[in-house]
Amino acid sequence: MEDIELIVKLRMELIVNNAALGKTQNDENGSFYEIYKNTRKYYEEHLSSDDHMMYLVLCDGAVAACGGAYTYQELPSYKNVTGKCGRIVNIYTKPEYRQKGIATALLKYLIDKLRAAGMEKIYLRTTKIGRSVYEKIGFSEMKDCMELTNPN
Ligand SMILES: CC(C)(COP(=O)(O)OP(=O)(O)OC[C@H]1O[C@@H](n2cnc3c(N)ncnc32)[C@H](O)[C@@H]1OP(=O)(O)O)[C@@H](O)C(=O)NCCC(=O)NCCS
Repeated sequence: MEDIELIVKLRMELIVNNAALGKTQNDENGSFYEIYKNTRKYYEEHLSSDDHMMYLVLCDGAVAACGGAYTYQELPSYKNVTGKCGRIVNIYTKPEYRQKGIATALLKYLIDKLRAAGMEKIYLRTTKIGRSVYEKIGFSEMKDCMELTNPN
């Protein structure tokens, strides 16, 4: 819990660096600060529960990367008979530590943890830069998935 400020900072780095989002700290709606506050609240609420795990990767004592996962229950189906599933989130490696296998190692660790906890399905949302890392581990594109976002 004492790492929350660091975790939120890394999360905001990921968001600002995410070219797909295309927003910056100075975006005109002031949404950066809203996201910061809500992210902090999210971690304060969820890190104390068993269903959310979050890891920081240290290299020589410095934070190099982070990543987390949470579990939830979806409706059972032929593709997930128990309905138990996990979602990997917030995979971020600081630019100076990239291409050393850190995200891959962290992902494998998270997958092992989720599988050991009985999760049959693992979902994640990718960025352009993350896609091949996930594909190499075995993730595949989801078909028939749609979303409706706030039109504002
Ligand atoms: C996506 C991201 C997490 C990858 O982190 P990373 O620690 O660099 O990942 P890895 O080192 O495991 O793999 C990256 C590449 O380096 C390669 N690699 C791994 N170990 C290597 C090594 N020792 N030497 C050279 N290359 C290596 C991997 O094969 C991979 O190649 P690819 O991009 O062609 O698939 C990082 O780029 C990032 O934080 N991006 C911004 C945030 C983001 O998009 N996160 C994903 C959100 S879902």
